[in-house]
Amino acid sequence: MEYVTLNNGVKMPMLGFGVYQIPKEETKRCVLDAIKVGFRAIDTAQSYFNESEVGDAIVECGIPREELFITTKVWIDNYGYEKCKKSIEESLKKLKTDYIDLVLLHQPFSDYYGAYKALEDLYQEGKIKAIGVSNFYPDRLSDMCLFERKIIPAINQVEVNPLNQQIMAQKNMEKFGVQIEAWAPFGEGKSGMFENETLKRIGEKYHKSVAQVILRWLIQRGVVIACKSTHIERMQENIDVFDFELSSSDMEEIKKLDSGDSLFFNHQDPAMVEWFDSMVVQRRKNDDYRKENKNW
Ligand SMILES: NC(=O)c1ccc[n+]([C@@H]2O[C@H](COP(=O)([O-])OP(=O)(O)OC[C@H]3O[C@@H](n4cnc5c(N)ncnc54)[C@H](OP(=O)(O)O)[C@@H]3O)[C@@H](O)[C@H]2O)c1
Repeated sequence: MEYVTLNNGVKMPMLGFGVYQIPKEETKRCVLDAIKVGFRAIDTAQSYFNESEVGDAIVECGIPREELFITTKVWIDNYGYEKCKKSIEESLKKLKTDYIDLVLLHQPFSDYYGAYKALEDLYQEGKIKAIGVSNFYPDRLSDMCLFERKIIPAINQVEVNPLNQQIMAQKNMEKFGVQIEAWAPFGEGKSGMFENETLKRIGEKYHKSVAQVILRWLIQRGVVIACKSTHIERMQENIDVFDFELSSSDMEEIKKLDSGDSLFFNHQDPAMVEWFDSMVVQRRKNDDYRKENKNW
């Protein structure tokens, strides 16, 4: 495994395992499998509703806690200073750990300033080893790095894959010393990602799969990764990317695939902001959510 040193000196594995959309019942098994094949970084979130099961795997895996790197994300509904602090206490309990390696603000909506201030304080108390943001487009990220912020975010986790490469966003992050991290490195397979002819042709040269070419391309660009699979064979395949190097001409070929657009949605689209707001309202009406989320 290769590691990157974040702007506060904390070391983070370049390649991590994400648990978005993994049902509760499957999460512990998937995380244990991922750890078994060599993953040490696990990416979860309050809004994935599987922090407890990630915590069960942390306890059962037999790997010393300090060798694991656990990320969670604060959900919009837990923004604001006090609610954010309380929600992290909940996350610590669910994850069954006395510190979290990295906590990100999940989305750039609602009172993320108050929430970030809470993360800064928890960081200073030692309950969080690094803090950051997610889905902050260049204007929001610049804002987070300026205006007398005490702590510059260590990470900005955004969608990055061959069809949405985030070249300009990465430059802007580097300017402030913020490490870029990719979510949906495979674009969840959308737009025929695994069948892409360019990626297949490049993979054949190195006897590697499309997934491996994508992960290697990200690593060579200095992008930290969270990738997901529920299949142990694919987890094994996905971690087997440290024994080859793409040539500069292959890197250039992949660069040409960039559409500059999200495969999912644009966080700056007002309709999407409304959609997030309606999701928050809907979830508050759900009994299971209220039980899970003690703040409501
Ligand atoms: N911050 C955010 O807003 C945000 C948003 C989305 C995701 N994330 C994080 O990023 C992580 C990764 O993103 P993601 O889960 O959305 O998508 P992803 O990793 O791009 O794609 C996952 C999909 O690819 C398949 N897959 C994985 N490895 C494969 C392989 N070697 N060959 C063929 N298919 C393969 C998986 O299938 P199987 O599972 O069936 O194997 C799954 O359908 C998430 O789990 C989460 O931790 C963060």
